[in-house]
Amino acid sequence: MVDRHEDILAAEHEIYYPPPEVVEKAYIKDYDAVREKALADIEAFWAERAQELDWFEPWEKVLDDSNAPFYKWFVGAKTNIVHNALDRHINTWRKNKIALIWEGEPGDQRSYSYYRLWQEVNKFANVLRSLGVKKGDTVTIYMGRVPELPIAMLATAKIGAIHSVVYGGFSEQALADRIHDAQSRVLITADGAWLRGKTVNLKDIADEAVHRSPVVEHMVVVKRTGQQVNMEQGRDYWYHELMSLPIASPHCETEVMDAEDPLFILYTSGTTGKPKGVLHTHGGYQVYTSTTLKWVFDIKDDDRWWCAADPGWITGHSYIVYAPLILGATSFMYEGAPNYPYPDRWWRMVEKYGITILYTAPTAIRGLMRFGDAWPKRHDLSSLRLLGSVGEPINPEAWRWYYRVIGKEKCPIMDTWWQTETGGFMITPVPSYPLKPGSATKPFPGIDAEIVDEEGDPVKPNEDGYLVIKKPWPGMARTVWGDPDRYVKQYWERYKEKGYYLTGDSARKDEDGYFWIIGRIDDVIKVSGYRLGTAEIESALVSHPAVAEAAVIGIPDELKGNVIWAYVILKQGVEGSDKLVDELKQHVRHETGPITVPAKIFFVDSLPKTRSGKIMRRVLKARALGKDVGDTSTLAD
Ligand code: WTA
Repeated sequence: MVDRHEDILAAEHEIYYPPPEVVEKAYIKDYDAVREKALADIEAFWAERAQELDWFEPWEKVLDDSNAPFYKWFVGAKTNIVHNALDRHINTWRKNKIALIWEGEPGDQRSYSYYRLWQEVNKFANVLRSLGVKKGDTVTIYMGRVPELPIAMLATAKIGAIHSVVYGGFSEQALADRIHDAQSRVLITADGAWLRGKTVNLKDIADEAVHRSPVVEHMVVVKRTGQQVNMEQGRDYWYHELMSLPIASPHCETEVMDAEDPLFILYTSGTTGKPKGVLHTHGGYQVYTSTTLKWVFDIKDDDRWWCAADPGWITGHSYIVYAPLILGATSFMYEGAPNYPYPDRWWRMVEKYGITILYTAPTAIRGLMRFGDAWPKRHDLSSLRLLGSVGEPINPEAWRWYYRVIGKEKCPIMDTWWQTETGGFMITPVPSYPLKPGSATKPFPGIDAEIVDEEGDPVKPNEDGYLVIKKPWPGMARTVWGDPDRYVKQYWERYKEKGYYLTGDSARKDEDGYFWIIGRIDDVIKVSGYRLGTAEIESALVSHPAVAEAAVIGIPDELKGNVIWAYVILKQGVEGSDKLVDELKQHVRHETGPITVPAKIFFVDSLPKTRSGKIMRRVLKARALGKDVGDTSTLAD
């Protein structure tokens, strides 16, 4: 069993200093000084950062806090993030630079110069317009990791529409709920996706989701695997056929947007009920993501940046799609599984493409570490100069392996703590900063992070508390789509008087002021770095005819960070059996997707509840771990 506190105690005095050549090259040499200066005047700091981008019209005010917590940034400015990500590069030498190199799981390859990517985006933007998509409309995108995914996102944003990308690992009900909530009339998907040598039937899942959420009028289908799919006449179109029509001209006007106009919705799991559509906007998000990527990963023109996340999650939105393009960087993207066909697939590609910076999740590192040192040692990894980690706390053991075996003790590891809601990195080192294995180090310049108690007062060093952010920042979420009250309730109500943003994580600071994230304090479970809500998995279970009630909890796991355990009350007259366990797992896989499947399912007669009927998952978890169940005064039974 893994214990984060033991990890912290073991590693808090273990310091790794950056190699001199890294410091020399880095944009930020004195992190503490830059941090201090930025905090002294956050508006001046962000205004200066925003000057690096193009704006059609300048802002009148950097920050408008008159209607807090609905903060506004760069008020009055006109812009479009796609102008900064693509259009502006076409008039410079970067026109011919490679923007994206892509490798499919079967081994096929493609690359796009900035010019070609710009043309493809323009063409698809025109296609979307011809399907009736207008400024302010939502477009849902459900695909594997293929170049058409970023192209579809950028095309949507270019014409001022709002994309909602649903991760390709989600299944029917999850997709249907997200389509319904966003009320998308257009869905962009693919026939299938490659994963571990097999195909995932995306179009079949999309068909069923649209059947459940019939708002969709048109589906655009990318041909990826060539598998047999059902195409409904008048509703479904092949992407490649639309892209070869005269309407798909390679020129397309970029819509002029208000800095505060919506850019995308990204659904994420919250404490209760249905998933929340976190909303980000054009202006602040472009400033925040590009600044953080530039400084933290020290992006230079000769880099080959590989963010190994999925574009369907915030990490991919910010650091595969938008920030690298804004910075004019060359990115690499890979379609499939890290260990397919062999456990050296990643290391082979690092060597082949000369990757200089690799950014991934602890679960992937642990997974690859399991196969031993021989696989990475077969490859020349000397192109690497920086490494990164995101998604969950990294345990010191995995950190040291990554540092030693992959980075050859010359690549600092940027452990970046952040969230869908924050838009970009919040607590993170920069390459010149001394590291401790498992600590995300210090807040980024302009970010006022603190660890507080119930009353909102700072806790002492080495004490656990709630992680809060005390001042607004440009990359922050603006609201929950269609539910502003939920936005206030979820993030701002807890420390209303003080105006702090509640992250939902617990953390501590050590004596050197280094932040150590401990984990979620709410009903969110991180499985292999994926953020899942208990509520969605529980409703998938309850939608099975044998189930009366269900509760799920996260249990620490060496490989995945956490796994899901489910406690199920069966309907009267139904007998629990191994066969039923398998059937329930299959059902959850079908409804919400493979990552949401419980590792264990227990049949029980009752669940611990408060008198108001809320399931006390904390009690279930303590019991499962053989720990003291703590205060149970609110327990009904
Ligand atoms: C967790 C992912 C420790 C944390 C970008 C947070 C981390 C949640 C780290 C957000 C890290 C993310 N160290 N924990 N470096 N990065 N987390 O919205 O619990 O998918 O609240 O965004 O992931 O997950 P999300």
